[in-house]
Amino acid sequence: MTVRFPDAPGFTGYQAPMRLEGEICGLEVIQGTVPDTLRGTYYRAGADPAWPPLVPGDFWFNADGMISMFRFADGYVDFRCRYVRTPRFLAERAARRSLFGAYRNPYTDDPSVAGINRGLANTNVYWHAGRLLASKEDSAPIQIDPDTLETVGEWTWDGDLASQTATAHPKIDPLTGELVFFGFAAKGETTPDIAYYEADRNGRIVHEAWFEAPYSSMIHDWAVTENFVIFPIIPLTSDLERLKAGGPHYVWDGSMDIYLGVVPRRGGSARVRWYRGTNRFASHIMNAFDDGRHIHIDTPVGAKSAFPWFPDITGAPFDPEQARGYLSRWTIDTMGETDGFTQTQLTACSGEFPRTDDRRATRGYRFGLINLTHVPSEAPPPDGLPGFRWLAAIDPETRAMTMRYAGHDSTVEEAIFVPPRQDAPHGEGYVMQLVHRQAEARCDLLILDARHIDGEPVATVKIPIRLPGGLHGNWVTPQQLANRSE
Ligand SMILES: [Fe+2]
Repeated sequence: MTVRFPDAPGFTGYQAPMRLEGEICGLEVIQGTVPDTLRGTYYRAGADPAWPPLVPGDFWFNADGMISMFRFADGYVDFRCRYVRTPRFLAERAARRSLFGAYRNPYTDDPSVAGINRGLANTNVYWHAGRLLASKEDSAPIQIDPDTLETVGEWTWDGDLASQTATAHPKIDPLTGELVFFGFAAKGETTPDIAYYEADRNGRIVHEAWFEAPYSSMIHDWAVTENFVIFPIIPLTSDLERLKAGGPHYVWDGSMDIYLGVVPRRGGSARVRWYRGTNRFASHIMNAFDDGRHIHIDTPVGAKSAFPWFPDITGAPFDPEQARGYLSRWTIDTMGETDGFTQTQLTACSGEFPRTDDRRATRGYRFGLINLTHVPSEAPPPDGLPGFRWLAAIDPETRAMTMRYAGHDSTVEEAIFVPPRQDAPHGEGYVMQLVHRQAEARCDLLILDARHIDGEPVATVKIPIRLPGGLHGNWVTPQQLANRSE
């Protein structure tokens, strides 16, 4: 057998698969100094196909999870990256080829893998109750050893996870330490069922409730506040018959309304209320909070889907301008008489991958991060490279924003906020961001002062290789690592 990847977008040039596992002890710091006091580990999840795809037209969301880690101590940064040994990865490695077919379509798989979990663990990696968990929204998470990145195995909350899936975007309530999460397509691919869970700070599921969405769709991210959880139903719709016919899992349907399903924290199906709005697209949530009555949800909102690999139901071509998302605030009056909600745009710049200072997750906040694709006051970068070219820090209350241009031939990944210590003031600390230096086929990890992301970096850490595209990541402290579960 010959191993050969397609000569197609997503598999060539800077996007070509790396398929490399390894470690570098003491990455080179090419600018500034990594503070001696900065101790902890930045974990990030990405997708890197271990084998050429089984079906044509596949895309990189449907690739094996590769976890990277950057461990900071005494001014040094040690790097390691390793594939997640999912059941799927192990089956394909044994066969030395892909056995699983199209994105979330088991009907396109090789018959030999029927019944094997299709999860890829490629979307997020987070810490809760002493466990490092790599996750993708179509399956239960996979526990990873936080030092070696070796795979421990599937984590189903000691078997208490009845849902077939668990979101890659759980929220940790910073005041209670609870993991608040859900699964969609919870009874199987394309089912409209949502399972809502809360696990206590020890990792034990203490609440479970089931809901049925108005229609089956991708519920990639959601909002959690002190008193509510909110499920956004956005019309990237799924359909079992289409899946069985070998069609795409999701299509964009511009004719359908969106819904926000609001449930009081730890509430059940009798307490869900669906708020309705006109057609639009949103994916990631920067943060959300409530005052007991009104819920505010900050999210980039666009006219159409931002995912070019999920086709428009009408056959219309992907429109990058309509796909631009503008950070906006949705406000729901939970005691109002209408089933509507309001939307207020917070910036004229388009962007995605919003994050906040997670110590203020679910509560009122004044610090957000977002990657930008378009800035009206700035000329488009002359290299013509698409993607995220700027990082912005925003105060959602005043809308004051500072920006940082990634540089020529450079694109940015999701940034994270890292507090220098747990009791540091809100928004005061570091921002870490991986920058792809595409012309040089390598990366930099920038350590920025969160209050001055537009200034000289605190340090620039050189990664001498090209890292496969990453999605989401999180910072884990030495105290958390010291309290690990087996
Ligand atoms: Fe995501």
